[in-house]
Amino acid sequence: MTIRDALLQGQKILEDANVPVPRLTAEVLLIHAISHEKTVDRAWLFAHSTDELKQLWWIHYGRYLHERIQGKPTQYITGHQEFYGRNFHVTPDVLIPRPETEHLVEAAIKRIKPGDRVLDIGTGSGAIAVTLALETKAKVVASDISAGALRIARENARRLEANVEFVHADLVSTFADKSLEMVVSNPPYVALRDKGNLQPEVRDFEPDLALYAGFHGLDVYKVLTSRVGRVLKPRGWLILEFGDGQLDALLSMLPGWVNSEIIRDLAGIPRVLASQLPF
Ligand SMILES: C[S@@+](CC[C@H](N)C(=O)[O-])C[C@H]1O[C@@H](n2cnc3c(N)ncnc32)[C@H](O)[C@@H]1O
Repeated sequence: MTIRDALLQGQKILEDANVPVPRLTAEVLLIHAISHEKTVDRAWLFAHSTDELKQLWWIHYGRYLHERIQGKPTQYITGHQEFYGRNFHVTPDVLIPRPETEHLVEAAIKRIKPGDRVLDIGTGSGAIAVTLALETKAKVVASDISAGALRIARENARRLEANVEFVHADLVSTFADKSLEMVVSNPPYVALRDKGNLQPEVRDFEPDLALYAGFHGLDVYKVLTSRVGRVLKPRGWLILEFGDGQLDALLSMLPGWVNSEIIRDLAGIPRVLASQLPF
């Protein structure tokens, strides 16, 4: 079997299982299968389309196709996801970073001044914290309640050479009063009542701890917004990602906060709120 035939066969298997973008997925999975032996890219696949597939590559490729049609996200199979131009290692212990979250990063970069102390709550893979540490001159701290997520985030920071301090904590519980210029967070915000409507690959594979926040999806915001004022310095910034339809509820949790900006994602959905603590 040639590489071209393997791609065609993989594409067909994925198509029949209604996997989105079947051709690209087949290519990514074949590249990953070959990567056990050597690093290749899509250009290599095309240049070698008439080469014979080695047996070991075929075995790996078959296994990955099977995992994908069972619903496992491609990123958990290959073990990585790009975020803000960098490659992050991901495992089922962490949420796969989403492109929407880059809007949160941009809102933070715009407001950070050199030397600011910034806390990323619920860091997951470390995508936000690592990016802010590499793109700004802030002192970045990252926390998560999940020890498994913190392990992955630490590894990403080490590999990408980002200077981030990691803390195992429940929201702001271990942080000193008035010690931070900024808190950023993409917390869990899926409503448990919507669990049945989630895509199966999200619902069945991504960590519950990263997804759900009570029946209405607002439980983590409620606790976070009620406590975050304690750790922020006066005029400190809170930058939060939120779900479709949650903006009004979130704004009602931040009475008296000033200079609020609402940022929409590429689909036009309000997605990020930046708000400043008054004096
Ligand atoms: C939606 S994920 C975001 C991950 C990452 N920041 C990103 O944007 O890709 C939410 C993260 O919050 C963490 N988390 C959930 N409850 C928490 C809590 N009470 N305190 C700290 N972290 C929490 C989860 O473990 C998960 O890693």
